[in-house]
Amino acid sequence: SKLVGLVGWRGMVGSVLMDRMIEEKDFDLIEPLFFSTSNAGGKAPAQAKNETTLQDAFNIDALKRCDIIITAQGGDYTTEVFPKLRAAGWNGHWIDAASTLRMEKDAVIILDPVNMPVIKDALANGGKNWVGGNCTVSCMLMGVGALYKAGLVEWMSTQTYQAASGGGAQHMRELLTQYGTLNAEVKALLDDPKSAILEIDRKVIAKQRSLSAAETANFGVPLGGSLIPWIDKDLGNGQSKEEWKGMAETNKILGLGEGFGSAAIPVDGFCVRVGAMRCHSQALTFKLKKDVPVADLEAMIAADNEWVKVVPNTREATIKDLTPVAVTGTMTIPVGRIRKLAMGPEYVGAFTIGDQLLWGAAEPLRRMLRILLS
Ligand code: HSE
Repeated sequence: SKLVGLVGWRGMVGSVLMDRMIEEKDFDLIEPLFFSTSNAGGKAPAQAKNETTLQDAFNIDALKRCDIIITAQGGDYTTEVFPKLRAAGWNGHWIDAASTLRMEKDAVIILDPVNMPVIKDALANGGKNWVGGNCTVSCMLMGVGALYKAGLVEWMSTQTYQAASGGGAQHMRELLTQYGTLNAEVKALLDDPKSAILEIDRKVIAKQRSLSAAETANFGVPLGGSLIPWIDKDLGNGQSKEEWKGMAETNKILGLGEGFGSAAIPVDGFCVRVGAMRCHSQALTFKLKKDVPVADLEAMIAADNEWVKVVPNTREATIKDLTPVAVTGTMTIPVGRIRKLAMGPEYVGAFTIGDQLLWGAAEPLRRMLRILLS
């Protein structure tokens, strides 16, 4: 069987990937070769078969042995190792969770339930570089990809509610630590039902504003009990890098835009960090090319893939099934709040959620492995 190198399998995305690969019995089909950036020579995990020693993730000769490499080690690793590996003549398949190579001409953003034709086309043309998409974009397209596939979308605006996990494991810890600190600050007052809510509020805001640099080291400002309407770099044109990815990656995934000799579909909006743990949520506004009944839109969305689930646009169904708490740890991509907006019959709103570590990161990678093995 194929020798498949695994790099960054111990981190947060890597651990989710390992769990999914075990669940889906992917290891039955491969000979895994585990790499480490810090513990070369150590013992590989239980999934190892013949190759039970951890290899040095910076050793080009060791990497060159692999038919396929899957990395969730991060962008710095890709930047350092990938060019050296290709320069050394390695001709295997590189499957990567990091954004480094995403917009390169010879890289495909992989999300096969949405863009299998793009993947197949690249494979037929000798493609070797497969990169997972931005989590927000991947989760969004798993939900409403049907409307794009049907050519219905004139433009889309998205307002995101992105979880702490998008920043990394340390960000999740920081959020919870802040919640704890705030609770502790007013615990005595909370325990007294007669205490004044405005006094509680005063104490909370005073604490939020006086959190130490250590307590906000990852997000830079408090997130617990607040939100941060900026994610990733400042591009200097008023847009955050996360907002830029929305249009760039959506079009590239779908095989639209400049690189494909067609017009790109405008996608723009605001990306906001909120105090959720690992589900990214988004409120979407579509301008459709024509007036399509809501029932038809719901039917198209529901039929698109086996993970998307239309949530009826009622209060009861929404608060039960359309929240990060309901979706976390599941492969389900709920799409709800589907309705015509007041601006006119071509304007449609929707709300969708995805676990950003599953469909947003790990799952497209292991599915690409399966495609290469099939
Ligand atoms: N940029 C994303 C976020 C991470 O910060 O939420 C996944 O691409």
